[in-house]
Amino acid sequence: MSSGGLELGLSKLWQLDPDIVFLNHGSFGASPMAVLDHQTELRAIMESDPVNFIDGQGRELWAEAITRLSGFLNADPNGMAFVANATTGVNTVLSSLDIGIGDEVVVTDTTYQACRNAVDHHSSIKGFSVKVANIPIPLTSKHEAIDAVLSQVGSNTKLAMIDTVSSPTGIRMPFEELVEILNGRGVDTLLDAAHGPGLIPLDISRLNAAFVTGNCHKWLCTPKGSAFLHARSDKLHIRPLVISHGATLPEKLGPRFRLEFDWTGTVDPTAWMCIPFAIDHLGSLFEGGWDEIISRNHHMALAARSLIIDRVGLQPVCSEEFITSMAAFIIPGSPHHPDPDPLHDLLYRAHGIQVPVQGWTNHAARYLRISSHLYNDLGQYRRLSEALIHELG
Ligand SMILES: Cc1ncc(COP(=O)(O)O)c(C=O)c1O
Repeated sequence: MSSGGLELGLSKLWQLDPDIVFLNHGSFGASPMAVLDHQTELRAIMESDPVNFIDGQGRELWAEAITRLSGFLNADPNGMAFVANATTGVNTVLSSLDIGIGDEVVVTDTTYQACRNAVDHHSSIKGFSVKVANIPIPLTSKHEAIDAVLSQVGSNTKLAMIDTVSSPTGIRMPFEELVEILNGRGVDTLLDAAHGPGLIPLDISRLNAAFVTGNCHKWLCTPKGSAFLHARSDKLHIRPLVISHGATLPEKLGPRFRLEFDWTGTVDPTAWMCIPFAIDHLGSLFEGGWDEIISRNHHMALAARSLIIDRVGLQPVCSEEFITSMAAFIIPGSPHHPDPDPLHDLLYRAHGIQVPVQGWTNHAARYLRISSHLYNDLGQYRRLSEALIHELG
């Protein structure tokens, strides 16, 4: 087992409250202080001459961030665009695609609720139907998930929205297999890789999905508001949610996709510009770079999961092969959704543990999900186990 953040002193790189056991990297990530300091420096440069920054140096930093992220994910930089978050990426694709009455879009019953809402919203505007694949829980074989998705795919299916890793269950979907099968059936995939960069190895060129959207502000630990949308070379006609100058700028300045996505109105671009720094800062901690980070976090999550199963007796939502650096368990009882789950509040208030407990009405279930990043150590999961024994009996 790899050493945890405590022994290596890695937690000092973050500014997380030492009085809180933070086991929820998965929700919003957490940025190391050096990354945030870098953002502060970039902001200082920007504010010393905003015009010069946005028209000059900022363009270079933006292009560098596109290039570095594309390299990190083995993606085509010509199809790489920055968006504020994965939710925006999903909405962008749905609003831009030419799908309507008679067409079908497939989601799963573990699709992130915000993204499901986006699909339902666009369905109500455009008239396409939504088909929902039921992912069996506990999931014990890839084929169960693949069959569940394919059972909803028919001759009218135009798009399937598939997670890399599901939010409520932490299950790593067999997305590589699904994209390949769906491509073979002429169905486009919108891969929701909100939990992607820095959590799992992602090779976007090899994957060959029509669209991939993902967050850097989760597992890559960049400042919040830094995410991407990648469109395959035959999908570059998609347009951003916000139409701006790029719609009319002459194409001698660049391809329309670049012109449109690189300027969607005035924003603070520094979160995206921190991507190269974040890749290097954490990636340089270990000889094996990000592969080693991914592997360490994965092993920590596996060890923590075993500990919770052994000590508390909770049932995991899937077998080990679906675990990345998150792992979820079934909490007995009915979901309190949409209200916050009282167990979350108890663990937080009475035990100082920040860990998500979420009612998932699609499954009539409650799930507790742990996350592991470099700042976590096994002792924190022991504390969680003791707190759970205390609260659940
Ligand atoms: C699977 C999944 N998709 C989409 C999102 C949305 O991410 P964001 O809030 O950054 O848009 C999340 C957030 O946790 C998620 O887990």
